Amino acid sequence: METPRLLEYLSADTYLSGEAVATRLGVSRAAVWKEIESLRHLGYDVEAVPHKGYRLAIRPDRLYPWEIAGHLKTSLIGQTVMYYPLIESTNDLAKMLVPGQPEEGTVIVAESQTAGRGRLGRSWSSADGQGIWMSLILRPRLPLAELPKLTMMAAVAVRAAIADTTDLPALIKWPNDLLVNGKKVCGILAELSGEADSMAYLILGIGINVNQEREDFPEELRESAGSLRMERGSGIDRMALMISVLQRLEEAYNRVGSEGFAGMLEDCRRFSATIGSTVTVRNGKQTLTGLAETIGEDGGLQLTLDSGETVSVYAGETV
Ligand code: BTN
Repeated sequence: METPRLLEYLSADTYLSGEAVATRLGVSRAAVWKEIESLRHLGYDVEAVPHKGYRLAIRPDRLYPWEIAGHLKTSLIGQTVMYYPLIESTNDLAKMLVPGQPEEGTVIVAESQTAGRGRLGRSWSSADGQGIWMSLILRPRLPLAELPKLTMMAAVAVRAAIADTTDLPALIKWPNDLLVNGKKVCGILAELSGEADSMAYLILGIGINVNQEREDFPEELRESAGSLRMERGSGIDRMALMISVLQRLEEAYNRVGSEGFAGMLEDCRRFSATIGSTVTVRNGKQTLTGLAETIGEDGGLQLTLDSGETVSVYAGETV
C-alpha cells in the first residue's frame, strides 16, 4: 500500500483550498477530488467546506504503515512495515518472505486474520481492527539454544508497552503469555525459519487483544481471554500501543545484543505470574506439577516437584 500523497498536505488545524492542493500536487482539481475520495475510502474523515477548502478531521483507527512511520523513532524494528487489511496469518507470510532474505526488523501487521495461529496448533482469534496482529522478522546472531529467550524478551517488551500506554499491570505467564487480572491479553508464537544455524530467521508472532468486548471472543475463550479495553474499562489507542511495542522491542533487542539476557531475565522474574505458584506444565507427553521457584539463567522454569526433586522445563504450557 502506498502512502496517499494528499496526507502530506492536509492537516487538522488549517483548511487548504482545492486549488492549492491541485497546484502542490501538480494535478487537476478532478484528480484532487479523486484522491480525497480514496482517502475517505481508507477511513480518513476529510471535511470539505465551501470557500475554505479541505481539512483532515479524523484519522482512522487503522495501523497504516505511513501513520506508524510518522510516530516511530526506531532504527531497526519497524523500518519496513507491510500492512494487510486481511490476511490468513502474518506468521505464514513472514515465513514465505524468508527465502528472499527480508530485512531484519521487518514487521507485518494485519487488521484481521482468517487463519491466525496460536501455539500448540491452536487457532488465534483475530477480530477485525480490535487487536494488534503482527509478526516481526529477526535475524539474531545467537546460538540456536538462546533463541527461546528472545521469545521471553518479546513478552517483556510487550508488557512494558502495555504499562506505558494503558497503566494496566500485565504479568508474564511462563513462558510468554501476558495476563491482566488473570485474563490472557497477549500471546506470542515464535517460529524459526531458514537454515537451522545461527543465521536462521526468528519470526515473532505477537497477538494483543486490545479493544474487544467479551462477545467478540469465541465462547470457549470467554473465561480465559480478555482485552485491554475490558480490563481498563475504556478504549485503547491501538496506534500508540503499536508504536510503544515496536520501541520497547527495539530497546530490548539492543539491550540483549549489548548486555546479554541477564537484565531481560530479571524483568521476567519481576513481572512473573508464575513464580511462587504451584503450576502444572504440559510439555508434549510429559506433565509436571510443582512449585515454580524461579526462571533460570538458561530461561528454563525451575520447579520443585512433590517428591522434592528440582527440575527445569524449557518449553510447554503452564495450566
Ligand atoms: C499463543 O498464545 O498461542 C500465540 C498466539 C500468537 C498470535 C499471533 S497474531 C499474529 C501472528 N500471526 C499468527 O498467525 N499468530 C501470531
